Amino acid sequence: MNSSPWLIPRLGVNIDHFATLRQLRGTPYPDLVEVAKRVEAAGAHQITVHLREDRRHIQDRDVFELRKKIGISLNLEMAVSSEIVKIAHKVKPDWVCLVPEKRQEVTTEGGLDVLKMKKKLAPLLRDFRKKKIKVSLFIEPDVRVVAASHELGADAIEIHTGKFCNATQKRYGAKSASIKKKELKRIEDSAVLGQKLGIHVHAGHGFDLENVREVAAFGRIEEYNIGHFIVCRAALVGVDQAVREMISAIQAP
Ligand code: PXP
Repeated sequence: MNSSPWLIPRLGVNIDHFATLRQLRGTPYPDLVEVAKRVEAAGAHQITVHLREDRRHIQDRDVFELRKKIGISLNLEMAVSSEIVKIAHKVKPDWVCLVPEKRQEVTTEGGLDVLKMKKKLAPLLRDFRKKKIKVSLFIEPDVRVVAASHELGADAIEIHTGKFCNATQKRYGAKSASIKKKELKRIEDSAVLGQKLGIHVHAGHGFDLENVREVAAFGRIEEYNIGHFIVCRAALVGVDQAVREMISAIQAP
């Protein structure tokens, strides 16, 4: 149970964009297993990958290879698609994180509409449970959706922090400060309810070394899944330092 605040959060490193660099040129490098091993050695708790339906970065073979070769938890982000579900059942990651996916989007833009999708999600969750794969639902910071995810029997919610993070990165211009305040409150309320209900509370999307501290300061998020910023930072300071800096930001904000 995760009823007390001030827990020590875990870091899941999303390594998709190392694969983006490889796919750009169709080269054999960077070797994703080597990346994952370095992430692991730097102290991260999980490797996260998103096997998108269009296979724009992570490929099927990457997921199977990572499953075999990494020593830490594997979290597979995936659309609610029968093709990807079949692959997930074969790979048997520790976690799957179900996300809404649109072909044209640059990245996962919103959370799952759990209220509308209950009937579709229930058998999926049951089948994953049979395979001993834990399920997290990527949702908007909305207390109604937190409650619906809990009712469905999900193991975790992952709160989509994109709107808050965009506001901290000034993408909303003059409105940024008010959006930021509102979104931070929605994230905290969702995390508080999640903890109260006893569902694991994760968060991700858009985090950098600054904005993550504002969410980490609540002390209520158990796990962060962070990708783009860490890959960008790794280009400057190396994977090891980029991962260590982020662990320190979430654990000592
Ligand atoms: N969590 C989920 C469910 C995601 O879809 C993504 C983006 O792939 C992330 C976390 C990581 O987001 P970012 O790359 O912005 O850190």
